[in-house]
Amino acid sequence: MEIQRRPETMERITTKELADKFIAEQVSEIQKQVGTNKVLLALSGGVDSSVVAALLIKAIGKQLVCVHVNHGLMRKNESEDVVRIFGEELDANLIYVDATDRFLDLLAGVAEPEKKRKIIGAEFINVFADEARKLEGVTFLAQGTIYPDILESIKQAEGKQAVKSHHNVGGLPEDLQFELCEPLKFLYKDEVRVVGEALGLPHAMVYRQPFPGPGLGVRCLGAITRDRLHALREADAILREEFDICGLSEKVWQYFIAVPDIKSVGVKNESRYEGWPAIIRAVNTKDAMTATVEEIPYAVLHKIVARITNEVEGINRVLMDLTPKPVGTIEWE
Ligand code: XMP
Repeated sequence: MEIQRRPETMERITTKELADKFIAEQVSEIQKQVGTNKVLLALSGGVDSSVVAALLIKAIGKQLVCVHVNHGLMRKNESEDVVRIFGEELDANLIYVDATDRFLDLLAGVAEPEKKRKIIGAEFINVFADEARKLEGVTFLAQGTIYPDILESIKQAEGKQAVKSHHNVGGLPEDLQFELCEPLKFLYKDEVRVVGEALGLPHAMVYRQPFPGPGLGVRCLGAITRDRLHALREADAILREEFDICGLSEKVWQYFIAVPDIKSVGVKNESRYEGWPAIIRAVNTKDAMTATVEEIPYAVLHKIVARITNEVEGINRVLMDLTPKPVGTIEWE
């Protein structure tokens, strides 16, 4: 299949006025493309799928069916926010699937990172396809493809290898044939955010840091267990809360916790207390191909250490990853 490139004449969307113009054009394009048919969208709650959802809701309202698959590897409150913003505030046609047990059962005992990624990617497609088969009269599949994804495909078509297998909803089973609707396919990330804000999505959602498709699955290192996943989710929520409080969330591109499958000896209430370490990763980057480690003030770090070790059951140390990319990738798996 021929890969389309962004038209050279296309103006960079940097202002609300330009975003409004893009939205008006796309609304009419989408209405023309879709007619009275239904469109299906996997809504992860990430920036790209959220902006596609908001754009399609504006264009075709309830003809859009959003499916949010909670794979049990979301951050704290993330799925709840999707349901609240899209299901309630924007009154979207939203199907919420809690597939936590399906994913965690499949992942039990699997420690190898690429195997974990493949299981999560494939099961995501299975769950989504199961939902799609239950629906009637859906002709189109909308995707939050953006221009860097297209550029990545061009690179792969030229035979350059990816370091990790990133996942999105490609590769649906053959009995599910859809026409694609990809209204953001020529936009860069910064343009998607401008369009998202012009569509009225919350600032926090539009400017939220990137979150990998396999979610906390690639941060709960090695074989995932429910107790360690829970500890990771709680520690990550504390890190994000503290970065918000001190304004670091505006300055650091991506920051999160990873929890390895290692226990060390500690002491709590005068007793031996074995626990996992929480590893802080906080990086800045332009394109995610290289990244530098951010300097975090010690006072902030001390507060985070105190809160995580006091509030999160099972964590008895906090470490900081100071490795730039290369040589360390941003995620640990
Ligand atoms: P790495 O770890 O390769 O990550 O340095 C680069 C950026 O990509 C994100 N990432 C993913 N994003 N699906 C995604 O959509 C994935 O499977 C995936 N894996 C990593 C990572 O969070 C970082 O921002």
